[in-house]
Amino acid sequence: MEDLKKLIKNDKLPQHVAVIMDGNGRWAKSRGKERTFGHKNAITAVRNVINACNEIHIPYLTLYTFSSENWNRPKEEVDTLMNLLSETLLLEAEEIFSKGLRMHVIGEISTLPDLVRDQLLNVVDLTKGNKGGNLILALSYGSKKEILKAVKEISAEVKEGKLKIDAIDEQCFENHLYTKDFPAVDLLIRTSGEVRISNFLLWQIAYAELQFLDVLWPDFTKETFFRCILDYQNKERRYGKTSEQLLS
Ligand code: IPE
Ligand code: IPE
Ligand code: MG
Repeated sequence: MEDLKKLIKNDKLPQHVAVIMDGNGRWAKSRGKERTFGHKNAITAVRNVINACNEIHIPYLTLYTFSSENWNRPKEEVDTLMNLLSETLLLEAEEIFSKGLRMHVIGEISTLPDLVRDQLLNVVDLTKGNKGGNLILALSYGSKKEILKAVKEISAEVKEGKLKIDAIDEQCFENHLYTKDFPAVDLLIRTSGEVRISNFLLWQIAYAELQFLDVLWPDFTKETFFRCILDYQNKERRYGKTSEQLLS
């Protein structure tokens, strides 16, 4: 794995990696276990991706942890996920802090159980002075809701005469997204073999490289991550231009 890491070019790293951590249920099912067994075994993979990012100094990592649609799962599963989140935060807060990571949360935080929300905000507060990488948890997050929130806030500013319609540009719109302080996503990884976005960062992935892996999330290792980075570095990001233009 060290050899793999050595192949990574430091001057061509993605600044922002986003991950749709999918496949916990199927991982458990293939072992004849309950879905929640998969969620419990997903924590190691979360640690792997955080550590791998930290090792190669990727400044922004966003993890799709719970979507606004995931509230529609059976109550027992939702409860397990919330308890697991709470336990993990308690266990990992120190580690996150000591690594110099700064934690952020995006999504409809007010809909989370009080205890979970308080714990999250505590870790966000604890780590706000850290200067290492940014770890962003998307919780109760839905991209369409986020975009509607921006539209409503902007409309209110126009109505109150604080903003002119002509001043609504991309930057103005982005200032109303949860991700306003983060750069656009460069690389989006989804595990589990599904090739869909599931309402994640629709605006922010406009020009991201997309990678869909056949790995189920609990099997995701640092090595898997480093391979994703190497694949990313082999892509030519043209942004509408021609290869020749990029070379000259
Ligand atoms: C991802 O794994 C975890 C969450 C969405 C919270 P899933 O629970 O979606 O697992 P599959 O996709 O059913 O296998
Ligand atoms: C997306 O996975 C949400 C998270 C990984 C948190 P889902 O498993 O909920 O997505 P669908 O239902 O397959 O689209
Ligand atoms: Mg899934």
